[in-house]
Amino acid sequence: MNEFDEMAATWDDDPIRMERAASIAQSMRDILDMGIFQNALEYGSGTGLLSFALEKDLKSITLMDESFEMTRVAIEKCKASQVNHLHPIRMDLMFDQYQPKSKFDLIFILLTLHHINDTEGILSRFKDIINPNGILAIIDLESEDGSFHDREFHGHLGFDRNELEKKVTGAGFQPKHYDVIYNIVKGEDEDKRSYPLFLMIAQSLQDV
Ligand SMILES: C[S@@+](CC[C@H](N)C(=O)[O-])C[C@H]1O[C@@H](n2cnc3c(N)ncnc32)[C@H](O)[C@@H]1O
Repeated sequence: MNEFDEMAATWDDDPIRMERAASIAQSMRDILDMGIFQNALEYGSGTGLLSFALEKDLKSITLMDESFEMTRVAIEKCKASQVNHLHPIRMDLMFDQYQPKSKFDLIFILLTLHHINDTEGILSRFKDIINPNGILAIIDLESEDGSFHDREFHGHLGFDRNELEKKVTGAGFQPKHYDVIYNIVKGEDEDKRSYPLFLMIAQSLQDV
């Protein structure tokens, strides 16, 4: 079991995570015309908080996560709420072979990119499975000092906008929009820290 398998059963018990997903869903609606997307992918979807917050906006969402337990919880939630246009599957695009029947026209990823060491690699996989002109929406931490994870952590300490835009561009996307849309607050009183979350929107360029 990995750390996310262990957290899956109680992930949704934290009301702040639910509120955050609702707030981020609204930020996405504010900037994107959600009605145009036929086929969306949430990558690193966990229990599906953001996909459930967007379920009325999108016609079909594939929820992909490497964690068996996160995926199991997402499947149970779909069954319990009789939602049949959300499709959770356990998948790690960095290791598993996967080619969708039809490519996606929206890929969104919340607080997961910083867990994936090979940023260029995962962006290149997204490019393989997104339609030309499709939209990539990355929501993640701005650069931080390492205090965000209060445990041993080997991923990225957030992202610098310019560096990430270079990688996104290198993978075949054109950056279109960047904004800070949310602050994660941790600690109390004088230990209180705020960690800004950005929304980066990029469009998949036509292959030449
Ligand atoms: C911080 S959680 C965020 C979950 C969800 N997006 C949310 O905000 O509630 C990070 C998620 O990314 C998943 N993850 C980490 N590395 C991954 C990878 N290489 N491929 C797919 N999912 C991954 C974890 O299993 C976990 O569910």
